[in-house]
Amino acid sequence: MIKKVLVINGPNLNLLGTREKDIYGSETLLDIAKRMNQEAQQFGLDIDFIQSNHEGEIIDKIHDARGKYDVIIINPGAYTHYSIAIRDAVKAVEIPTIEVHLSNIHNREEFRSKSVIAPVCVGQISGFGSNSYIVALNAAALLLK
Ligand code: DQA
Repeated sequence: MIKKVLVINGPNLNLLGTREKDIYGSETLLDIAKRMNQEAQQFGLDIDFIQSNHEGEIIDKIHDARGKYDVIIINPGAYTHYSIAIRDAVKAVEIPTIEVHLSNIHNREEFRSKSVIAPVCVGQISGFGSNSYIVALNAAALLLK
């Protein structure tokens, strides 16, 4: 059976390409989705790619992933730093989850260096720009081998 990966993008990531380009680069979220799709084909993975600015909607998507997806890749945006509710959802569904960030959250403002979600993830990839998503997909493929 073909393995399925759900890629969840949190708040403000819909603005990629225009938002703080010096930090997040000039690629749009659609550009990233296309690159991931190409890469996924090489691994024989099927990906669904979503974005939401709403915490509850992200939680619903995580719940709905049960029984449908083999791995979740999530960039929770600013929710990374304080959403215990998203953390609890990730923990609850027991789907291996990879946290991803474009920027290196450990060399920015102090408040960004803490992720409340990373402890319930397999791991965190942070600081490689849009390539963080590609690295995460490679990690997902290795997890599913
Ligand atoms: C981000 C880092 C977060 O601190 C920030 O709130 C974002 C983007 C990243 O991908 O680098 O929205 O998750």
